[in-house]
Amino acid sequence: MQFEEHKSLATLNTLGFSQHAERYIEVDNDELLNEVVAYANQKNWPLFILGGGSNIVLTKDISGLVIRLTSETIHYENRGEENSWLFRLICSAGVNWHRLVRDTMSRGLPGLENLSLIPGSTGAAPVQNIGAYGVELADRFESLRALHLPTNEWHTFDLNACEFSYRDSFFKRHGGEYCITSVNLLVGNDCPFETSYESLEQALVRRNAEELTPSIISDTVCSIRQSKLPDPAQICNVGSFFHNPVIPAEQYESLKQRFSSIVAYPQADGTVKLAAGWLIDSLGLRGQREGNMGVYDKQALVLVHHGGGDGNELLSFADRIRLGVREKYGIELSIEPQIL
Ligand code: EPU
Repeated sequence: MQFEEHKSLATLNTLGFSQHAERYIEVDNDELLNEVVAYANQKNWPLFILGGGSNIVLTKDISGLVIRLTSETIHYENRGEENSWLFRLICSAGVNWHRLVRDTMSRGLPGLENLSLIPGSTGAAPVQNIGAYGVELADRFESLRALHLPTNEWHTFDLNACEFSYRDSFFKRHGGEYCITSVNLLVGNDCPFETSYESLEQALVRRNAEELTPSIISDTVCSIRQSKLPDPAQICNVGSFFHNPVIPAEQYESLKQRFSSIVAYPQADGTVKLAAGWLIDSLGLRGQREGNMGVYDKQALVLVHHGGGDGNELLSFADRIRLGVREKYGIELSIEPQIL
């Protein structure tokens, strides 16, 4: 076991903040993970599992041990009856999520096309139940395997045990207790195309394809994302910085009377989800820059780091945005990425 000490995390978080890990190790198999965790527990080192670093805000150095899983295997198991085309995808945590999506696309398998181009690793995907264009990870999820870090024991979680909801899961609420090492998804014929999200539907109409395929939907999702979300390789960001707030119908009705263009999505349980990007945009903040931070000019829900700043500066900037939204709309925005 070789631990790197005082490891710079600057290239391992998509905000590009220059914090360090007290110790750092890359692990590519389950046996080594057990050994590393046993050793760290014996030394009483706090553990942090780092995925693609695309949903964290570093505000300080990380003490103890940072573990990054690097195993990149994808297996397909045919689960269907004869002539059916349903596959279990067994994917190790270190696989880049978009690589996994493209792998299924290259085999013509439907299921993950709407989730194209989401940054991050497959192991991190269940933590925040990644979602886009009307599909969430939970819709394609079968089970996952995770190591319980305090006891160094393996557990399998099925769909119910993960307690998925909008951008939330059991793992998000039990911050850092588990290390997800592999994820099983179900893709294939049982996954109908989901094209009702307005911007996707319109882009597909413009594309005028004779027949829809998973690849055409995936390519369309990629072009929508590229047109309004900054590529973390070019501009530092963690995607949406706030959740879309979910409010009671009565509160929405009274807001709608005062602000007729407010963008909202009624939910199955009678609540209403508001587009936080619209709330921020309506304050005139889209494209605004303050110090080293800014609101992305094509999508106000995304905050960007122009370089030279740190996590605390970003959080202060986010606080000023939250204050503006609270004062005008009486809505409390909650931060989506994990603050460390
Ligand atoms: N809008 C504005 N101004 C803006 C941004 C948005 O007016 O600056 C309005 C527009 O009317 C737009 C609507 O808000 O139609 C919704 O915007 P968009 O389709 O971009 O979706 P979103 O609600 O802002 C969510 C997810 C995204 C995901 C998209 C598509 C959250 C927190 N964000 O954004 O996820 O890609 O829907 O499904 O739920 C991420 O999590 O990092 C992420 C990018």
